[in-house]
Amino acid sequence: MGEILRRALERLEYRGYDSAGVAVVDRGLVVRKDAGKVAEVATRYGFDSLQGVAGLAHTRWATHGKPDQTNAHPHTDCRGVIAVVHNGIIENYAELREELAGRGHVFRSETDTEVVAHLVEEYKRQGLDTFSAFKKALSRIRGAYAIALIDAENPQVMYFARNLSPLIIGVGDGFNIVASDIPTVLDYTRRVIAVRDGEYGYITPTEVYIEADGVPHDVASRIEEIPWSAEMATKGGYPHFMLKEIYEQPESLATTVAGLEWRTLETVANALLSARNVYIVAAGSSYHAGLVFAHLLPRLKITPIPIIASEYTTYENLFDKDDVAIAISQSGETIDTIKALRSMRERGVKITAVTNVVGSTLSRESDVVIYTRAGPEIGVAATKTFTTQVATLAALFVAALKALGYDTAQYEHELKSLPDLARKTVENTAGTAKDLAKRLKTRQSAYYLGRGSAVPVAMEGALKLKEVAYIHAEAYPAGESKHGPIALVEEGFPTIFVFSDPATREKTLSNVAEMKARGAYTIGTVSAKSDIAKKLDLPIEVPEAGEITAPILHVIPLQLLAYFAAVERGYDPDKPRNLAKTVTVE
Ligand code: F6R
Repeated sequence: MGEILRRALERLEYRGYDSAGVAVVDRGLVVRKDAGKVAEVATRYGFDSLQGVAGLAHTRWATHGKPDQTNAHPHTDCRGVIAVVHNGIIENYAELREELAGRGHVFRSETDTEVVAHLVEEYKRQGLDTFSAFKKALSRIRGAYAIALIDAENPQVMYFARNLSPLIIGVGDGFNIVASDIPTVLDYTRRVIAVRDGEYGYITPTEVYIEADGVPHDVASRIEEIPWSAEMATKGGYPHFMLKEIYEQPESLATTVAGLEWRTLETVANALLSARNVYIVAAGSSYHAGLVFAHLLPRLKITPIPIIASEYTTYENLFDKDDVAIAISQSGETIDTIKALRSMRERGVKITAVTNVVGSTLSRESDVVIYTRAGPEIGVAATKTFTTQVATLAALFVAALKALGYDTAQYEHELKSLPDLARKTVENTAGTAKDLAKRLKTRQSAYYLGRGSAVPVAMEGALKLKEVAYIHAEAYPAGESKHGPIALVEEGFPTIFVFSDPATREKTLSNVAEMKARGAYTIGTVSAKSDIAKKLDLPIEVPEAGEITAPILHVIPLQLLAYFAAVERGYDPDKPRNLAKTVTVE
């Protein structure tokens, strides 16, 4: 059993997680876990020699609580009988924890996950069997989750549940496996059932049982044969991590939005509203996310000062204790951003970090941390980390509006619908982006134009094309393009307009006409409902979205375009030349 679990964890390690652990039911429950890489932890704790009839394994990528032994999964109940592993976020864990602690449950970790083990224990204590207790526990938790749970008092059974976070079942001959992705089970079986949102159930060595809302589902008809090779499998069936990560955006946005800590956002929003100066400091794509946010701030009567991290010294004389900075970095380790942050802190500026990595330098050295929950990003070019940054900063804007007494229901609804719209955008625009990539592949240069908050979206699109397809791309405010860049335009010159800012549509259309008159090939990301499409040579239609989420939807086809252009030109988009995922030199 131990060896099977260790091999499964190795299959998952390409995601770059920070802790690993296993639990097996032998005569009782045995748990071994710690922070570190799978191979290290597995050797240190002798995973391979563990025996049992059922086992759980997990690699963690910290969200609640730092990466250490206590916070590593599996988590157990007070008696050490029940073990649980979980991906996602349990939004209401704090109140559940308080309630359970009031009933005498003792918590060991800082995680949201541990409440599941104690809830099941509590309901068993009240007389329910394990499955009923598990179901009752599920009815109490809110959020995104893929859960697997074992109970040493019921050793032949493993319970599972899914909401938003991926979960599959590998169906074997005399065994069954619950896993978070397909590569994990491919060494043992290619027969797989995808568990759907809202479903839960259990497996035994010979049975798979699934139900939703109390109604059992037919399982046999849902088994699919997976045709993947092992190499493809590590990328979940995608040829490159970049494409996988672009397609993961609906899920990473769902997790990010579900995981928003509104109380923290409120605190930061109030600090922004009363600050003397507000700095937004970041590099690369993170800077572009910051610029999208900067476009919202004048609406709050805040004058933002966006700072490219490596340029911070120009602003040093401004830094003061009455100022607030938002430092954005997916890795939390970019040296330019860290240096800027340290200079600000020395001068008393209060720093809020927006980062994707728990325990990163940025998170440790900031006053407040807001996490994006994109999951690990392996492709060098930022994709899902960028869109989750924009979503998180949009939520901060909403929190500030709320603090000012505005009704924000419409914006909150916009954030909730975002994952679904992102899914539609990826699905609906991939074909057009691929066709366009074929056309662009022989071009030397392209313009990306927009107005208002579409400018940083254009900048992000241009950066992606440069980074992975090595085509020169320049982003400009569309109005400014007349003041120089238009001189380069000749027959067929690709000009990509971003129509994500509704307030500037009409004026941007005049720029389309100017470019067309000079022979440009005009492309544009447009809302599916608008009539702008007719005015462009190639419209890329994205779903209609509200103003704070439109930048996220409109950047998706630009990411896809860059990806397909790289592939068309024969380059590996995951490892662009001269670039590192995290830039730790100035
Ligand atoms: C662009 C890209 C880089 C990073 C930049 C900042 O695709 O990946 O431009 O955005 O190096 O990195 P973080 O966000 O880790 O500070």
